[in-house]
Amino acid sequence: MVCLGNICRSPLAEGIMQQKIREAEFDWEVDSAGTGHWHAGQLPDRRSIVTAGQHGIDITKQRARHFQADDFERFDKIFVMDTHNLRDVLRQARNEAHRAKVELILDHIHPGQERGVPDPYYDDDGFEEVFQMLERACEAFVLGHKHRPLP
Ligand code: 4NP
Repeated sequence: MVCLGNICRSPLAEGIMQQKIREAEFDWEVDSAGTGHWHAGQLPDRRSIVTAGQHGIDITKQRARHFQADDFERFDKIFVMDTHNLRDVLRQARNEAHRAKVELILDHIHPGQERGVPDPYYDDDGFEEVFQMLERACEAFVLGHKHRPLP
């Protein structure tokens, strides 16, 4: 799960996807990172922590980290939150296999529309809406694999 700062959107996405995976009894690893390095080492934004907590998800064990090219080798899928993240991540891809792993997360509920998860950093009211769209997208992805687990 990749966004810009790795403190607002992708920590929520990580926590939500982990919950969906647990519910589906899959054995997948989920992590998140930011294309920017400024917040590395920090806790998620307090507003993301509160919003996740209101839905029974604890994201306080997470610490922000910077996305690195090595992540293309470590992970089977790389979900980005918006088209800026998409561009920044694809710029670090070294081959077609890397590029094929990268996807806008909202493509799972709005295929082909290139929709981005809005950045809620400057908008106190945006966190619940972000949570809702991420939950629908993560659920769609996990349900889509119920009978077709990743390798
Ligand atoms: P995120 O939100 O990419 O969802 O973690 C942001 C967090 C921090 C900044 C921008 C977006 N920032 O400019 O510091």
